[in-house]
Amino acid sequence: MSAMALRQTMRALLSRGLPKAPLARSAGVRAISSTTAVRSDALFVHRDTPYNNPSIPFEFDEQHMPEAQEIIARYPWQYKKAAVIPLLHLAQKQNANWLSISAMNYVAELLEMPPMRVYEVATFYTMYNRDPVGKFFVQVCTTTPCMLGGCGSTAVLQAIEKHLGITAGHTTKDKKFTVIEVECLGACSNAPMVQINDDYYEDLTPESIVKVLDGLARGEKVQPGPQNGRLTSSPDRENRTLTEKPYGPGEHCVPEFA
Ligand code: FES
Repeated sequence: MSAMALRQTMRALLSRGLPKAPLARSAGVRAISSTTAVRSDALFVHRDTPYNNPSIPFEFDEQHMPEAQEIIARYPWQYKKAAVIPLLHLAQKQNANWLSISAMNYVAELLEMPPMRVYEVATFYTMYNRDPVGKFFVQVCTTTPCMLGGCGSTAVLQAIEKHLGITAGHTTKDKKFTVIEVECLGACSNAPMVQINDDYYEDLTPESIVKVLDGLARGEKVQPGPQNGRLTSSPDRENRTLTEKPYGPGEHCVPEFA
């Protein structure tokens, strides 16, 4: 259709009033679709509870205040709000591994920034727990490399759930363990692995993770890292690469570069 003809058609359509159905639909254009609405407000919304409300006092204690001051001092005074992430992390550490509304308000006051800015940070990063967790916070990586590596994270997660009698997302009755599923924690070469508080436990099997949990429950210091005896990420069998003598300087070079 020429431009002139198109203009005439549009003019005729407009003079008759707009069509009831959009033109695009009658022309067979794909309708817009969207994902299902997320109905849980657990991730974003704070509701006052007896254990988490702004009237509960919070401030850094003698042990954590020097560290907080050292963190703030890393930044020029006019940019001290840049310290919000490490300070929230420190507040969480002091507050039994979870971040209360009072802790967020305190950090906002300390950094002279609007509380809403702090809430935005705390709700964006999943490393902040805005509800109480158990003494041992067990984060089970179930991303693809951990799912496929070794015995697989599915077997490890099932062993944890069976041993503790809870499913992922819950805390044991004695408040010792909270278990959640998480995305890649960056230790894929030692899959499957879990993070418990600040430590990584790697190269796990259903048996070895149960031993780790039992040791922690008894109050023992369980050695973090690979649980199958290998050293960090070194080969767990004999070396199959880089087995030849390394080249010396200039070896195998064309004469002019030797
Ligand atoms: S996939 Fe589990 S640590 Fe990367």
